[in-house]
Amino acid sequence: MSKAIAGFSKLTKEKKIKWIAEEYFSEPEEAISLLKNYWNSNESLQKLHDEFIENTITNFYLPLGIAPNFVINGKNYTIPMAVEESSVVAAASKAAKFWAKRGGFKATVLNTEKIGQVHFLFNGSFEKLSAFFNDIKPKFFEGSQDLTKNMQARGGGILDIELRDKTSELANYYQLHATFETKDSMGANFINSCLERFSKIVKEEAFNCDVFTEDEKHIQVIMSILSNYVPNCIVRAEVSCPIEELHEDASVSSKEFAEKFLTAVKIAEIEPFRAVTHNKGIMNGIDAVIVATGNDFRAVEAGVHAYASKDGQYSSLSHAKIENGIFTFWLEIPLALGTVGGLTTLHPLVKFCHELLGKPSAAELMQIVAVAGLAQNFAALRSLTTTGIQQGHMKMHLMNILNQLGANDHEKKQAVKHFEKNTVSHSAVADYITELRTNNPERIEEDFLQ
Ligand code: MEV
Repeated sequence: MSKAIAGFSKLTKEKKIKWIAEEYFSEPEEAISLLKNYWNSNESLQKLHDEFIENTITNFYLPLGIAPNFVINGKNYTIPMAVEESSVVAAASKAAKFWAKRGGFKATVLNTEKIGQVHFLFNGSFEKLSAFFNDIKPKFFEGSQDLTKNMQARGGGILDIELRDKTSELANYYQLHATFETKDSMGANFINSCLERFSKIVKEEAFNCDVFTEDEKHIQVIMSILSNYVPNCIVRAEVSCPIEELHEDASVSSKEFAEKFLTAVKIAEIEPFRAVTHNKGIMNGIDAVIVATGNDFRAVEAGVHAYASKDGQYSSLSHAKIENGIFTFWLEIPLALGTVGGLTTLHPLVKFCHELLGKPSAAELMQIVAVAGLAQNFAALRSLTTTGIQQGHMKMHLMNILNQLGANDHEKKQAVKHFEKNTVSHSAVADYITELRTNNPERIEEDFLQ
């Protein structure tokens, strides 16, 4: 049976849902009712969400959690995190509390340059193209003033445009490599609009250039697009304390803990298989804040992982050292973020999260996000090098297992108490619930009848 459809986007939302339900589901009414259960009863709020993307059929929830007690550069923050993975928020909160007692996190924005490129083919020598480019360079700035004037008024704009010769890698391939300052906006639309203008200018100017041959006059622009790799838009987050203050748990000495922690970081620095998982843990914190603040997590992910490979091998984004008895743990990552534009004023929960963070500038948000990543990494390494990750993780995952087993509130309460002292695993929880139900059939029946 063919499931192709013409003109799907023109159908009403109701008709789209009906088509999907009837084509793909054995119980169409159930499928429709599931989708509708996730609609918001506030019609204008629902319409707003429907209009964020195309062919919206319902909302897809993610929990929004809160990690309080973060001290960053002496200021207190309660950090919003939108994430589905249990234990991420708990780990962030625990690390925040731990470091709040040791002076908190320090964060610094090192630079904020964004990048965009016009990729084009030119059938001629670099020398000739270079002379032409130097001649017309001011025209890129003049010819895009209508696009840049607002950004300039906010202190941003085009920083520079370079011509880059890429012909050793691909025949006739050159670039206009442009750098931008976009202040509090992520700047994607601004950058892409400027690049498309540069592309028009370079083509027109080449066409009218007297010294070019007929072939050279026909510059072929392949594409004009920002780069999500922003190695000059870097934020650093750091924690440090005397080694003896790292001590929290009598089972391991501070020195032993610090040294094991350092070795764990070193392993992530030299071993890509470990580095990917190590960095994934950092991204647990970063993505959760990026999503909550309405930023583009795909862009950040792509840029961060490219940065992790900048020296030719994928490596750890975080580093640690012990010097003169002081333990220091830090990361430096590229983050192109916005606190104006995009979803920031449109999505009510995104707006809420910005207000919760005290309406930060993009630079301040870079610091908060980097700290969330470092905190997450610290929490993961601390567990990995001491108790192992499963103890804490499975405790947090307990509620998901109980929900999978259809546990009622009473059973959940009993189970949480029982597993305070017992190891959580899917089978241990299943056995416990079975036992609870067989030993208490009347109570279970009552609970199910309610
Ligand atoms: C799980 O989401 C993240 C960790 O695997 C990170 C790490 O191994 O460092 C625990």
